[in-house]
Amino acid sequence: MRTFRVYRWDPDVGGNPCLDTYEVDVTGSPMVLDVLLKIKNEIDATLTLRRSCREGVCGSCAMNIDGENTLACTKGLDELPDGDVDVYPLPHMPVVKDLVPDLTHFYAQYASIKPWMQTESAAGSRERLQSPEDRKKLDGLYECILCACCTAACPSSWWNPDRFLGPAVLLQAYRWVVDSRDEATGERLDYLDDRFRLYRCHTIMNCTNTCPKGLNPAKAIAGIKQLLVNRTV
Ligand code: SF4
Ligand code: SF4
Ligand code: FES
Repeated sequence: MRTFRVYRWDPDVGGNPCLDTYEVDVTGSPMVLDVLLKIKNEIDATLTLRRSCREGVCGSCAMNIDGENTLACTKGLDELPDGDVDVYPLPHMPVVKDLVPDLTHFYAQYASIKPWMQTESAAGSRERLQSPEDRKKLDGLYECILCACCTAACPSSWWNPDRFLGPAVLLQAYRWVVDSRDEATGERLDYLDDRFRLYRCHTIMNCTNTCPKGLNPAKAIAGIKQLLVNRTV
């Protein structure tokens, strides 16, 4: 048996949020998400959370578990210290209900960096090719699942959520800046070269420490800054 204390807030009820405590038989429930679904299916059907893939691919089960932003589906109970387990929604984001954060602003910021390939030249009759070396530049970037764990852990995002793009979106921006097939590099750098959008990052590294996919948004942000210093486009 283990004790889980889970953040609860229902917009239809209002009032202050609270923690509900559940004693759960965790036999056969290796991951935190397994336990939350067991609570929902067998103890309290009103508990609200997001999940889809249960494989660490969709990013929808991101939440704060024992003080760390991570994915409930890949967080094993054996990775947690003994004692009660506290489960909260991602911090510093509006809450839709219980463990579901409102990602509207996060997705709007993502859309602002135009996360698709922009080209002007004719593609011709074949796909746009990339050398193995250029393709390798996308490693460590394309794997981002947009879970928002990093942005929700970033003090600069907490302080300037409206103007700083945050680590997840900046990592994605860098992914397109370094894509050899993209032809809008100059426009992308123009957009990023802003004291709030980019330069609110002070290399605190919370983002890299918390990323459940083992990525390094702080390094990607440093990569953008370096490109701006040595700008040729
Ligand atoms: S960089 Fe990591 S923590 Fe941030 S959104 Fe992508 S996968 Fe999630
Ligand atoms: S390195 Fe930059 S983006 Fe990452 S947590 Fe720190 S301030 Fe935020
Ligand atoms: S359910 Fe998809 S990442 Fe956890």
